[in-house]
Amino acid sequence: MKSDELLALFLRRGVLWPTAEIYGGAQGLYDYGPLGTALKRNLEEAWTAWFVGLSHDYYRIDATDLLPEAVVRASGHLENFTDPEIVCAQCHNVFRADTVLEKVRPEGVDGLTAAQIGEIVHAEHVRCPNCGSTALEVPPPFNLMFGVDFGVTGKERAYLRPETAQSSYLAFARMWEVGRHALPLGIAVVGKAYRNEIAPRQVLFRMRAFTQAELQIFFDPEHFALPFDRVREEKLPMLRVARRESGAEEPEWIAASELVASGGLPEFYVYHLAHLYRFFHDVLGYPAERIRFFEKSDTERAFYNRIQFDAEVKLESLGGYKELGAVHYRGDYDLGRHSEGSGKKLSVTLTDGRTVRPHVLELTFGVDRNLWALADIHLGRDGDRTVWKLPPYLAPLTAGVFPLIEKAHAAYALRLADELALVGLRVQYDDAGAIGRRYARMDEAGTPFDVTIDGVTVADGPERDTVTVRERDSKAQTRVPASDVAARLLASVRFPRPART
Ligand code: GAP
Repeated sequence: MKSDELLALFLRRGVLWPTAEIYGGAQGLYDYGPLGTALKRNLEEAWTAWFVGLSHDYYRIDATDLLPEAVVRASGHLENFTDPEIVCAQCHNVFRADTVLEKVRPEGVDGLTAAQIGEIVHAEHVRCPNCGSTALEVPPPFNLMFGVDFGVTGKERAYLRPETAQSSYLAFARMWEVGRHALPLGIAVVGKAYRNEIAPRQVLFRMRAFTQAELQIFFDPEHFALPFDRVREEKLPMLRVARRESGAEEPEWIAASELVASGGLPEFYVYHLAHLYRFFHDVLGYPAERIRFFEKSDTERAFYNRIQFDAEVKLESLGGYKELGAVHYRGDYDLGRHSEGSGKKLSVTLTDGRTVRPHVLELTFGVDRNLWALADIHLGRDGDRTVWKLPPYLAPLTAGVFPLIEKAHAAYALRLADELALVGLRVQYDDAGAIGRRYARMDEAGTPFDVTIDGVTVADGPERDTVTVRERDSKAQTRVPASDVAARLLASVRFPRPART
C-alpha cells in the first residue's frame, strides 16, 4: 500500500491520529487509539520476550524521561547530538542539510562540518527547495534535544532523554549492586525518547516523541562467552561498506562463521546480529528478501559507536529500505563518560579478581517504525477484502465473538466473550450488521480468529455445545467444542522466545 492509503486506513480505524488533531495537529507527534495501543504494547512485549529472554541476567527496568543536564553533558549529547541544517536567507525557511543536498550528495552529510557542507552548497549552486534562491547559509549544527526548566528557580535545566539507552547507563551501578555481581548484565528500557527533529516526516518515521526498545548489554571486554554454535551456519543479509562503495544496494548473504573468520567482526556482535535477524524474520514475519544489515562507515557512525550496522527493511509505502533498528558496539564510551561526569568509578571487580570497566553492546529497536512496517508488510488486499495478516501474538484483538442472530444468540456470545477475556485474551464482542461485515472489520484490524455462536451451539445444550471458529488468513471455518476455544486461542498468543544463555 502507499503511505497515504495506509495513513487513511489508520485514521479511519482509529489506529492512530495526530496529537492535538482538533488544533490542526503538531508536527512529528502522534497518539495511538485502541487498536494502535494494543498492537504497540504487544510489539513491546514481543521484543522484551525475545531480547530480554536472551539471558537469565538480562532485565527490563522503567525509568523517567527527564535527565538532569549533567547527564547529557557527560554523555556527549549536549555537544554532539546535532543535525546540520541549511537556512534560506531569502524566505527564512530551515531545512535538514541531507534533504536539501539529496541529489548532489546522495550518500548523506554524516561526518561533514558546517563549513564543508557550505562548500558543497556553493560549489553545486544549490537552490532553496522552497523559493529557489541560492542565498543559502549553513549555521552551526542544530541540537536535537528538548531542554526544559527544572524546579522553580529557573536555574536548573533538564532534558527529555534523546535515547532510552541513557537510563540503562545511569542504572548500571545500582543494578550491579542488586544483581549477581556477574557480567554480562543486560538492562533494557522500553519507553519514550524525544528529538526536536528539523523536518519530521513520513508519519511514524521521523517523530519528535517516539518509543524505543533498547537493550544495553554490559560485558567483560576480555571475555564474552556465548553459544556461537547456535548461529554459526546462519546466513545474514549484509551490505558492508566496501560493497556499498561499489554501488550495490542489495545485500549479500554471508554465514555468521565467515563474518567472524574473515569479516573482522567479533563473535558477540555477530551472535546478536543473528538474533536480531531472527526477530525480524521469525517473530515479526518480515520477508528475508526485504531485510539488510547496512554497515555504517567510520565517518557515518554515531559518535559513541565502534561498530554499527543498521537493520533496514524494504518498505513499499516509503519507497525503499528504512532503518528500523540497529546493533551498536559502544565500547566503554558511555560508562567512561558517566564515570568522568559523576566522579563514580563505574568499574566492577570480577570473581577472578580483575577490575574492569564493562563494554556495552546495544540492541536498539524503533517501536513506532516497526509498527508501521508491520502494516506495510502484512496489510493489503486479498481478493475482495482488506486483511492485516499480523502474527496472532501481535494482533490487537485475538478474536471477534459474534452471535449469528443478535436476539437468539447474544446472551451466549456475551458470556463466552467474558470467559475468554477472563483468561487474559483480547476479544471483542460484535453484533452489528451482517456477519460478512463483521468478518471484514476484524480482517482489517488483523484479528486472527472469529468465533460465531449460532443455532447449533444453543441447541446442543451447555455440555456438548460447539461454536464456529473462522481463521483470518485461510477463511476456513471449523466447528469446535466451545470449551476448547480458550486453550486454542491462548496457544496462538504466546510470544516466541530464543534459547536462553
Ligand atoms: N540508542 C541508540 C539510538 O538512539 P538511533 O539510531 O538514533 O540510536 C535508534 O535510534 C532507533 O530509534 C532507530 O533505529 C529508529 O528505529 C528509532 N528512531 C530514531 N529516531 C526516530 C524518530 N525521530 N522517529 C521515530 N523513530 C526514531
